[in-house]
Amino acid sequence: MIITPGGPVRGRLQVPGDKSISHRYALLAALADGTSTIRNYAPGADCASTLHCLRMLGVDVRTAPDGAGDAGPTIVIDGRGADALGPAHERLDAGNSGTTMRLLAGILAARPFETTITGDASLQRRPMRRIVDPLEKMGARILTAGGRPPLVIRGAALRGATYEPPVASAQVKSAVLLAGLHAAGTTQVIEPVPTRDHTERALPAFGIDIHRAQGRIAVRGGQRPAPAQLRVPGDLSSAAFWASAAAALPGSAVEIADVGLNPTRSAFLDLLRAMGADVAVAQTGVAAGEPFGTVRVRYGARRPLRIGPDQVPGVIDELPALAAAACAGGALEVHGAAELRAKESDRIAVLACGLRALGAEVDERPDGFAIRPAALTGGVVDAAGDHRMAMAFAVAALAAAGPTTITGHAAVDVSYPGFFEALAAVREPARPA
Ligand code: S3P
Repeated sequence: MIITPGGPVRGRLQVPGDKSISHRYALLAALADGTSTIRNYAPGADCASTLHCLRMLGVDVRTAPDGAGDAGPTIVIDGRGADALGPAHERLDAGNSGTTMRLLAGILAARPFETTITGDASLQRRPMRRIVDPLEKMGARILTAGGRPPLVIRGAALRGATYEPPVASAQVKSAVLLAGLHAAGTTQVIEPVPTRDHTERALPAFGIDIHRAQGRIAVRGGQRPAPAQLRVPGDLSSAAFWASAAAALPGSAVEIADVGLNPTRSAFLDLLRAMGADVAVAQTGVAAGEPFGTVRVRYGARRPLRIGPDQVPGVIDELPALAAAACAGGALEVHGAAELRAKESDRIAVLACGLRALGAEVDERPDGFAIRPAALTGGVVDAAGDHRMAMAFAVAALAAAGPTTITGHAAVDVSYPGFFEALAAVREPARPA
């Protein structure tokens, strides 16, 4: 993919449905007794991996025509309760999706059969001890390849547990809560730092009682989810790339409609503002406990920004977009973000190497990076098979003096099929602000 430089970006956009919310709705619909409909389901490969795995476990999943005004398909799932899940004939393939593997492991830990779940080369490098430890504590047996996939999950009758994860991870929290739904007694997660709370909002939408207080989330085992009719809002982590491009390129103004505004995901918007961008947010509704609305971002004079350990979990998926915005003439220091090395790629190393190839001044640190003001030249960068790296490099490339070639750009399909078409559209001259 060759990106010719130059801004601004202008116009109105709709982004694909939220990836995190889509996974949760599909998994809970599969556990429910009855038919659930999920509108605006995330169209990327990751959420397709979740549907593929559910089908392999015997769940009836259909695609219906897109709903009016939706950017993605409607998915219809005929749940027959957790007891109707059956052993798959072959190993499940979670593709590139850590969320699929980790959340599904929480469900399969309580099923009375053995399941093997694997993934692509990137997923096979990712750490799984973080879910194996609590699920084994609850009574499951899970074999790994040195703490990495494939996982061989030997489900069992689980006991409720209280678990305090050593890493701030919504995937770990969710795996434990989903296991807790099928465990004897109550299961409780105590979070060190708050992480995205879509599972806590989705469970009540499927009729499950949970209790939340001061960083503790408790679920009583043995509750049966009821089917639900849901619509997924747009993905703020996808919108982050347009917001960052607008923040970095003079004359830019973008409006992203129908995007999720969950407070455990929206810290990114505050940080973009702190970086100097003009950011306006208008909430227009709440669906199944998830607020959504419109985000408008205009270019503003740049200010240096520092992000520390307590802020990192709230912007973990938006750090690549923020880095792209910063390296186009700004400055950004990120600390306490070693988790970035355990994502779809080692995002600290890949970002530092790729942004430097475009002419940025970047220091790589064990737990973060520092970007100093520099004039970008453009160049050749490799996305390392990571969707968010491909999109971050595309945004940075817009602010360079010369063209940029991105290899491995097709990875955008993991979360944002149509990203490059949308990029071409927001760069058309004379778009409305
Ligand atoms: C996700 C949680 C985060 C995030 C990932 C999606 C989720 O991962 O980076 O893209 O849907 O729960 P961790 O839980 O590993 O931090």
